[in-house]
Order: sequence, then C-alpha cells, then structure tokens
Amino acid sequence: MGYKVVVVGATGSVGREMLNILAEREFPADDVVALASRRSLGKEVSYGDNTLKAQVLEHFDFKGIDIALFSAGSSVSKQWALKVAAQGAVVIDNSSFFRMHPDVPLIVPEVNGEALAGYTKKNIIANPNCSTVQLVVALKPLHDRARIKRVVVSTYQSVSGAGNGGIEE
Ligand SMILES: NC(=O)c1ccc[n+]([C@@H]2O[C@H](COP(=O)([O-])OP(=O)(O)OC[C@H]3O[C@@H](n4cnc5c(N)ncnc54)[C@H](OP(=O)(O)O)[C@@H]3O)[C@@H](O)[C@H]2O)c1
Repeated sequence: MGYKVVVVGATGSVGREMLNILAEREFPADDVVALASRRSLGKEVSYGDNTLKAQVLEHFDFKGIDIALFSAGSSVSKQWALKVAAQGAVVIDNSSFFRMHPDVPLIVPEVNGEALAGYTKKNIIANPNCSTVQLVVALKPLHDRARIKRVVVSTYQSVSGAGNGGIEE
C-alpha cells in the first residue's frame, strides 16, 4: 500500500516542483493532495499526467495522512506543522521555521541521513534552504577528508527564489 501525501503550498514555485518530483520519481503514493490558501481553491496543478484541484489548508482533515510536505512559508509552518504532526503525519518542512529547533532534525539525506531518527520527537523533519542543501552535498566529502572549520559563502539567487510573487514581478 502506498503513502497518502499532502503538499501544503502546492500552487507555489516550490510546491509545484515537489509535485513534479513526486511524479517523476514514481514516489509510492496512493493519494496526493494539493493544499494552498483560500485564494487558490479549485486552482489546478499538475501531478505527472494528472491534474489536482487545490484544496484549502484550513478546511482539510489530515486524519490518515502519512506525509505532509510543507512549503508555504514560515508563518504557515508555525501555525500548522505541529498540529498536523500531532495527527500522525510526518511533516517535512521546507520553510525556515524549524531549522534551529532542538527537537527537529535538519536533514540533507546525502549528508546526515543518520540524524533522521530524531524526527520522532515532534514528527517533523526540517530541510535547509536551497543554497545550503547543494553546498553541503559538495562540502561533505571534503569535510570527511579534512575537517572544514569555516566556510565563507556568497550566493547569487535567481528571482524564482522569491516564489510566484518574484517571478510575476
Ligand atoms: N523559491 C525557492 O527557490 C525556494 C527555495 C527554498 C525554499 N523555499 C521556501 O519554500 C517556501 C515556499 O516558497 P515558494 O517560493 O514556493 O513561495 P510561493 O511561490 O510564493 O508559494 C507559496 C505557497 O504557499 C501557499 N500559501 C501561502 N499562504 C498560505 C496560507 N495561509 N495557507 C495555505 N497556503 C498558503 C501559497 O498558496 P496560494 O497560491 O493560495 O497563495 C502557495 O502555494 C518558503 O518557505 C520559501 O522560503 C523557496
């Protein structure tokens, strides 16, 4: 039996990409639900060859959901992630809200997948921001060979880093 998955922020730049990747990788999901704000009620998003109609986060019943991918910004994660996790779904949060939380592991699977076990404290897993994820994947083998003490980074972000609003502007 496959997983029941929701994407919170499914109409956003990242949420739409999450749906693409779930479909592309043939993630074993029986059911995938697209959630967004009231503004997007009924808006259609692609999931592989299928089209999902966005539902409203605050009206959705999370009972029976296995995995909730959150990508709707920190304030949404702050308000909803703990409640959803308490109902049994494992929350994987893409916002910055839980990144420094002592009871929430901050995971890049290729780098510290072993820390994942700590997710059971809150039923939440955080992931770092986009530039950090790709950087630490490259740094990890270097760090394993010759302990890195300090990294100085400048990032040059694309406008899509500001989400739908940035792209439209
Ligand atoms: N863009 C990037 O490259 C990038 C990279 C790494 C991390 N992130 C993080 O990913 C998250 C999403 O970013 P994004 O670029 O995808 O933003 P975005 O394009 O602005 O999309 C935001 C999504 O969140 C939904 N949302 C906003 N307020 C909501 C509410 N009150 N209730 C339910 N849904 C709500 C929006 O729904 P509506 O369409 O209905 O408004 C939309 O689906 C942010 O935390 C951001 O920091 C983004």
